[in-house]
Amino acid sequence: MTNSRIPGFYNLTIEERRAKLTEVSQQIPEDLLPFTTGGLSSESADHMIENVIGMYALPVGIGLNFMVNGRDVLIPFVIEEPSVVAGASFMAKLARAGGGFTATTTEPLMIGQMQLINVVNMNEARLKIYEHKAELLAIADAIDPILKKFGGGARDLEVRMIEDSPIGPFIVIHLIYDVRDAMGANAVNTACEKLAPQIEAITGGKVHLRILSNLADRRIARARCTISVSELTIGFESFKGETVRDGIIAAWAFAATDPYRAATHNKGIMNGVDAVVIATGNDWRAIEAGAHAYAARSGKYTSLSTWGKDKDGNLVGTLEMPMAVGIVGGATRVHPAAQAAVKLMGVKTASELAEIIVSVGLAQNMAALRALATEGIQRGHMSLHARQVAIAAGASGEMIEKVAAQMVAEKIVRSDRAEELVKEYTGRQINK
Ligand code: MEV
Repeated sequence: MTNSRIPGFYNLTIEERRAKLTEVSQQIPEDLLPFTTGGLSSESADHMIENVIGMYALPVGIGLNFMVNGRDVLIPFVIEEPSVVAGASFMAKLARAGGGFTATTTEPLMIGQMQLINVVNMNEARLKIYEHKAELLAIADAIDPILKKFGGGARDLEVRMIEDSPIGPFIVIHLIYDVRDAMGANAVNTACEKLAPQIEAITGGKVHLRILSNLADRRIARARCTISVSELTIGFESFKGETVRDGIIAAWAFAATDPYRAATHNKGIMNGVDAVVIATGNDWRAIEAGAHAYAARSGKYTSLSTWGKDKDGNLVGTLEMPMAVGIVGGATRVHPAAQAAVKLMGVKTASELAEIIVSVGLAQNMAALRALATEGIQRGHMSLHARQVAIAAGASGEMIEKVAAQMVAEKIVRSDRAEELVKEYTGRQINK
């Protein structure tokens, strides 16, 4: 079984990390090769989108220490922002002591929408659709035999009346579709397009739009973790555990009540969520759209997570959000690095993947809140950011760390200072 605790991983070279990962994950080196090469051939890329001219790379880092539903999992993050992998890994370490993350998912139900316009009698049309529900569901159910074989298919049809809109009243029909291990857009869109003529014949109206909704509120993933106050001070020993816990709860209260803060709070969650969504070749725009629409479902945009304390005084965090991710079809199937990511996590179903992703989102949220509620995020963030500034200023090899450390010590992390330091160090090396 994989052990997601790899002490000292950070201090290894990239080559050593790859070797270690192969060893602890029980993967063969070939399994991890797509991460070395980037994975995607020009030919595959050319079939993926239009007007391809090349590739665009992002770093892949491994999230450590994660235990989700009692199983250790090594998690690939694809992201350009420093501190995210380290922050999530550290919080996963604190969460381990309390049993790690407990995560669940609903059935993988997606919603397809059909906009029915030019209806003479709205109520009559509504009733007629319900009268023909069984036959409409049977048509939708038959469109994807493979999905059906794996237990998916059409589940329900709901009719919504839009009484007032800029074009007057119209009807929206929701097709609820179980997409199993797929993200589901293709199956749902095909089913909606297939049903449209039938619905027009039944109602006398015109089916205008036929498209999946990214507000996937029937396909929810939930995660929970419990952290004792003694764990909370690790790395922040000058703070009392209760102070850190209450600081995190107060930070959450800010996001729960203020949309300006909630947007940033949820952005922190998405730092973790998107990194794994991208690593697995899933559609992160769909996940983003669903997350923020879900956060505004009450009519007021709010936090996707909650933080509070249990009867023993432990910090308890939860995260609940739509999670329309798949492990079959689309880029997940075509991109070798996405396949490698799914394999590395040992994920066998889309629900399992969703449970891991929502746990990462919660860990990431806790990392941001713990830093914000104590010393602020700049110290940790700046030391990593300084390296990027140093590289951009022309530093390479050993000089990166030297320039970055100097800027952090001076509390001046700026490109002009980095350029000066690069010049200084280059001059010193030449004169040696
Ligand atoms: C930065 O990418 C994310 C944070 O702003 C999240 C937050 O404020 O909760 C640190």
